[in-house]
Amino acid sequence: MRTLISGGTVVTPTGTDAADVMVDGERIVALAAPGSEVASTFAEGAERIDATGRLVIPGAVDVHTHMEMPFGGTQSADTFETGTRAAAWGGTTTIVDFAIQRKGDPLRSGLDAWHAKADGNCAIDYGFHMIVSDVNDQSCKEMDVLVGEGVTSFKLFMAYPGVFYSTDGDILRAMQQARASGATVMMHAENGIAIDVLVSQALSRGETAPRFHGITRPDLLEAEATRRAIALAKVAGAPVYIVHLSTTGALEAVAEARSAGQNAFAETCPQYLFLSSDDLAREGFEGAKYVCSPPLRAAEHHANLWRGLRTDDLSVVSTDHCPFCFKEQKELGLGDFSKIPNGIPGVEHRVDLTYQGVVAGEISLSRWVEVNATTPARMFGLYPRKGVLAPGSDADIVLYDPAARQTISSATHHMSVDYSAYEGKAITGRVDTVLSRGRLVIDGGRYVGEKGHGRFVPRKGNEYLV
Ligand code: URP
Ligand code: ZN
Ligand code: ZN
Repeated sequence: MRTLISGGTVVTPTGTDAADVMVDGERIVALAAPGSEVASTFAEGAERIDATGRLVIPGAVDVHTHMEMPFGGTQSADTFETGTRAAAWGGTTTIVDFAIQRKGDPLRSGLDAWHAKADGNCAIDYGFHMIVSDVNDQSCKEMDVLVGEGVTSFKLFMAYPGVFYSTDGDILRAMQQARASGATVMMHAENGIAIDVLVSQALSRGETAPRFHGITRPDLLEAEATRRAIALAKVAGAPVYIVHLSTTGALEAVAEARSAGQNAFAETCPQYLFLSSDDLAREGFEGAKYVCSPPLRAAEHHANLWRGLRTDDLSVVSTDHCPFCFKEQKELGLGDFSKIPNGIPGVEHRVDLTYQGVVAGEISLSRWVEVNATTPARMFGLYPRKGVLAPGSDADIVLYDPAARQTISSATHHMSVDYSAYEGKAITGRVDTVLSRGRLVIDGGRYVGEKGHGRFVPRKGNEYLV
């Protein structure tokens, strides 16, 4: 089937132009000036999508999601089916989720378990990173094998002792292996050993409310861990990608390493750009809705994170989508903040929320596309199949209405979770139409996608390594 998307404004990292987009089957075949002869010829017998008044952008790539993730005696509320559908509603056409190695198990069984959850259930394409919670000879060998299967990035944790935590020695070994295998280590950089001391001291003082989650995870312990991760990566000669960076101190560490020429990269997430420790301190148990790690920070960090996005010290915006219902799941932590499952729902609203940065003059339209689609695709080996509107690329295309107004609410969102962290937030802009590999998934605000359309996408290495 051929489709012509005409009359829209195409936005790429290099600029903004009126252009028609020609799709044949699953791929983009050409972009041409509106009304050009090639577009008119192509239009004969093709389906037409009128993009007048819309921005035409590459489908967004969310490289940090947790669907059906076991955590703290429960599991995240979105399945691959519901979570990828919600992602599509928000203009995301590829996710990279985290398969988990359980301590004592091989990486392979974790990866198999995640394939069993996802395969045949997704509305959009998906890939996997691998969480390594047990660094040993066997898992290092398996890292090399998994790279060959398109799992080219491995997350390690400096937090959560006894669960996912790795020692500095483990991290160094995994980074050396990553260097040898052409992989990227993604780091959850918080000093979990020190945090656990602060948590038990707080609980013994009777400080049990959600806001103590933030107080016991001070920003200095994120900045310290980020510096340590970067130092270990330098010793190993390996790239490092800091996930969910939330604070100015950690950003400074990344910026220094980048200025010194190191392969150090970082992402932030909408919750660190729009929410704050004031949300965590909401009345009663309401703050539990905002418990995630690293925790939400004081609002004064927001401006620095936006600056980091402009300077490319923050290269990517991902969601760290990890939804737990307020009822029954977040409530596991009533009377003990340390038992509140960590995570915030967000896979549906990243494109919209970061568009508010365009509206506010924090980032340009091109940068908006870059941090949501092009750079994550390049960083995680999906480019040029994903993240770009170019001949030969998958026809993952979003038509975005830049003038629409909407109010975010759990009453209208599509994530399988009973609250929104942005309830009542009025925003400008809305996803109108979404194609995934040439097939309509969202059609003028109607879901027309299909469970099982999404395919596993094997990934190459990080394009930014020098
Ligand atoms: O609170 C969070 N971020 N939950 C998801 C797990 C992680 O560390 O990314
Ligand atoms: Zn993490
Ligand atoms: Zn995460």
